[in-house]
Amino acid sequence: MSAIMTEEEHKHLRRVEGDLPPTPPETEDGEASCPDPADYPLPPPTSIPTKVLDPDKKTPDHHVPRDPRLIRLTGVHPFNVEAPLSDLYNEGFLTSPELFYVRNHGAVPEVKDEDIPDWEFTVEGLVENPLKLTLRELLAEYDQITCPITLVCAGNRRKEQNQVRKTKGFSWGAAGVSTALFTGVVMADVLKRAKPTKRARYVCMEGADKLPNGYYGTSVKLNWVMDPERGMMLAHMMNGEMLRPDHGKPLRVVIPGQIGGRSVKWLKKITITDVPSDNWYHIYDNRVLPTSVSPEESANNPAWWRDERYAIYDLSTNSAIAYPAHEEQLCVVGAPENYRVKGYAYGGGGRRVTRVEVSIDKGKTWRLGKIDYAEDRYREAGEHQLFGATLDMTWRESSFCWCFWNIDVPVAELKDAKDILVRAMDESMNVQPRDMYWSVLGMMNNPWYRITISHENDYLRFEHPTQPALMPGGWMERVKNAGGNLMNGYWGEKIDGEDAEQPVKEAATEVGMTKDGLDRPVTIDELRKHDSEKEPWFVVNGEVYDGTPFLNEHPGGAQSIVSAAGMDSSDEFMAIHSETAKAMMKTYHIGSLNEAARAILGEGEVQPDPNAAPRPTFLDPRSWSRATLHSKTTVSWDTRIFTFKLEHEDQILGLPTGQHLMIRLRDPVTREAIIRSYTPISQTCKKGYLDVLVKVYFDTKERKGGKMTKAMDALPIGHFADFKGPIGKFEYLGRGRCTVNGAERFVRQFVMICGGSGITPIYQVFRAIMQDAADKTKCVVLNGNRLVEDILCKEDLDRFAADPGNEQKCKLLYTLTQAPEGWKGLKGRIAGPLLGEHAHRENFKTDALVLICGPEALEKSVHLALKEQGWPDSDVLFF
Ligand code: MTE
Repeated sequence: MSAIMTEEEHKHLRRVEGDLPPTPPETEDGEASCPDPADYPLPPPTSIPTKVLDPDKKTPDHHVPRDPRLIRLTGVHPFNVEAPLSDLYNEGFLTSPELFYVRNHGAVPEVKDEDIPDWEFTVEGLVENPLKLTLRELLAEYDQITCPITLVCAGNRRKEQNQVRKTKGFSWGAAGVSTALFTGVVMADVLKRAKPTKRARYVCMEGADKLPNGYYGTSVKLNWVMDPERGMMLAHMMNGEMLRPDHGKPLRVVIPGQIGGRSVKWLKKITITDVPSDNWYHIYDNRVLPTSVSPEESANNPAWWRDERYAIYDLSTNSAIAYPAHEEQLCVVGAPENYRVKGYAYGGGGRRVTRVEVSIDKGKTWRLGKIDYAEDRYREAGEHQLFGATLDMTWRESSFCWCFWNIDVPVAELKDAKDILVRAMDESMNVQPRDMYWSVLGMMNNPWYRITISHENDYLRFEHPTQPALMPGGWMERVKNAGGNLMNGYWGEKIDGEDAEQPVKEAATEVGMTKDGLDRPVTIDELRKHDSEKEPWFVVNGEVYDGTPFLNEHPGGAQSIVSAAGMDSSDEFMAIHSETAKAMMKTYHIGSLNEAARAILGEGEVQPDPNAAPRPTFLDPRSWSRATLHSKTTVSWDTRIFTFKLEHEDQILGLPTGQHLMIRLRDPVTREAIIRSYTPISQTCKKGYLDVLVKVYFDTKERKGGKMTKAMDALPIGHFADFKGPIGKFEYLGRGRCTVNGAERFVRQFVMICGGSGITPIYQVFRAIMQDAADKTKCVVLNGNRLVEDILCKEDLDRFAADPGNEQKCKLLYTLTQAPEGWKGLKGRIAGPLLGEHAHRENFKTDALVLICGPEALEKSVHLALKEQGWPDSDVLFF
C-alpha cells in the first residue's frame, strides 16, 4: 500500500479484498464450530456512524459521529464509554470500531481526511538519527503488518471497587475491553532507523490531545519495544479501515498485553530517554498504589505517585461472565438440561490463559471451562496478506488477545446454587484472587467475577456485581444497602453463626448534611420547578436542599444560592464551604433525588455550542464559562498576574464593581475540582481579557501550600480554566451608591481594611472611586502585610493616592509586621489600637461602611475590635 486510503476506499477494500478467508460457519446455537486453521475470525458487520449525536454537538467533539448504544461513563464529555456487556460479547472475538470501548482524557483532535497523509510525528531524544516522518512515508517506507490485539483499560471492572470504597476513578463495568485487527508498522523498525544511543532506556510517547496538564503521554521500556515477542506497533488501521477519530485517527501506538493507557492515540512525538516519562499522565495515572494509601494520603504525599514500583504495565489475569446476563431470568420449568455459562478471559504481558474455572458452591469446588483461543487460528493460518499488510503470527509465542470460554452447567444444579463464580489462570499460574485489592485509582480490579442467583417461583434471576457508570443495579449495591460488608471475604453475606454486619460508613469523619430518617424522593420535574429566586432548591451529592430560608443570611449573598437553583452544585459547594457550613445543611435538607433524576444530572456539563452566536458577556451566574490562559506576568517571586483570554475580543467580563467570580481548576493529583472566588484586577470594562492577581502559596517544610494557587501556577499557557459568577452581596454603583444584598444604600465614607491578597476586591471599589472625579466618597484604606514586598498592587494604589485630585478623599495606610529599617508607614498588626486611631466610630458617624477582606484570623480580630469601638454589624461588610 503506497498511500493512505480514504474512508471510502477502506470500506471498498473490505468488500473486494480477495485474500480474506471465509467467515467461520456457525452452529445452531451461534457458537463457532470446530475451527479449520484458515477460519480465523473476521471483523463483524460494521456500520460506520455518520451522525453526530445530540449531546456531542455542544462539546469540542462536535465533529465525531458515534454509536448511541455506547454507555457514557463520565457524562457527556470527555467521551469515555463501554458497550453493554452482552452486545460486546455478541460481537464475537473482534469488536466493531463503533462498539470498541473508548477512553479519552479530553477532546478528540480533528483531522481532516485530506490532511492524513501529511500527519507528522517525530522521533527524538537519545537517538543518533532524529526522524520527522509523515504517515505517507510510514506507509511507503516500512513493512506493514496486521494482527489481532485486545486492548483493556486499566479501569475495567472499577465500578466494583467504587462500591467498596470510592476511588478516584470513574465507574467502568466489565466491558472496558475490546479486540480488533490492527494494521501498521512494527514500532522497533522505526526506532532502529533512529538509532537509539547507548544510554537510551525508555520510549516516551505523546499524543496531539491537549489536556489541562499537558499533552497526553506515557512511556514504556525501550527493550520491550525492540523485542518482537512484545508486538508493539504504530497502527493506522483497525479492522481493515482507517482508525476512527475516537481511536486515534490517523495514527496511534498499540502496546499489546499492557494496560490500554500505554497505547497513545493521535501520536505526535516519540522521545527516547534514560528515565521514564515525566508526563503528568504517566505519573498521576495508571498506578496501583498500596491498598493502605487512602485518597487523602495520596493527595497529601505526592511521593507515592513518583515511585516507579507502583506503575502498572502488564495487564493482570482477568475474566468475566457475559451470560447469564444481568437481570436475565431462566424459567426452570421445561428448561433444557444444561445452561451454557460463557464469558471472556485475558492474561497480561502476552501470557496465555491456560484455564478458566467456574464454581457454583462459593469456591469450594471448581469445574473446568472450555476455552476458545481464536488468536491461535491466526497463527495456524500461516503467513499471508490481510488488509494490504502481512499477517504472520506463526513464529510468535505470546498471546495478546482475550479468549472466550464456556461451560455447560446442569440447570438442576443451578437451582440449588446461590451464585456463579469464575476465575482464570495464565501460563505463569497467575490466578485471579478471591478478594479485591482496593487501591486509590481502582485499577487492575480482577477478583473472581461473581453473579448471584435468586429464586423467584419457577424462575432463576441472575444479577451481575454492578452496572456501569451511575446505572443502578447489581448485587454489590443491594448487599451494601442492606448493610453487608463487601470486604468480609464472603461478598458481604452473613457468615453462618455471625451477627449481621453493620453498614459500612464510607468516611467516619464526614460531616452529616442530611436529616436523619428523611425519605422523600425528589423528581427532576420537581427540582426544575424550583430553579429561580422564588424557592430555590439545589442539589449537593444527590441530596436536595431548599435555600429559601437562608437567602438573606447567606454570607456569600443570595445570588449564589439563586445561581445554583435547580442545579447540581456539589463541586462548588464542597469546594468552598467550611465544615461549619456543611453542618448547617441538615436544616435545609428536604429530600433525595430519585435515580432517574440523578442519572439526568449526572450527564455532566454541556459545553457551549461552538457554532452558537458569540456571547457579548462572558460570565454567566448559572453555568461555567471557559477562558484560556493567555499570559503569566511574574510580579514577585510568589505573585503573578494571570491573564485569561475570553471567548472573543469584544466580549466583556460582566462583573459589577465589588463583586467576585469563581475560578475552577482540577487538582493535578486528585482530579477533584478546586474552586475559589477571586476578584480580577482588570478594569471591569476591559474587553476580551481578564487579569487575576494571585499570590502563590508554595509548600514549605512546615506547611502545605495552597491547592488552588499551586494548580493555577502550574497551568500552562493555552490551557483553560472555568469561570462562573458574578457572586457577592455587595456592589458599588458609583458616587457613593451601592447595594448590600440587593438593598440600595448611600455611603459617604468607606473604611477599607485588608490583609495580603484581600486587597483585590477592595482595590476594585477603591479604583472606581479614585478614577471618577465626580465621586466624592472618602476612603480610608488600612492595608496590613508582613513585608514591603508582600503589598500587592502597591504601585497602583500609591499612584491613585498621589493624584492631587484625590487628596481630599483618600487616606492610604500600610502597616507591616516585619517593617524594614527606615520604613515610614505604620508598624504592627491591624488590631484595636491601630483601628482606634484611624477608624474609630466617632470619626465616621454618618453613612459610613467598613469593607473587610483578608485571612480569617484578621477578619475575626478586626470584627471584634470594631464592635468594641461602637461599629454596628450593619455597617461592617465582609467581602
Ligand atoms: N492517548 C491519548 N493521546 N489520549 C488519551 O486520552 N487514553 C489512553 C490510551 N491512549 C488516551 C490515549 C487510555 S487510558 C486507554 S485505555 C486507551 O487509549 C484507550 O484506547 P481506545 O479509546 O481506542 O479504546
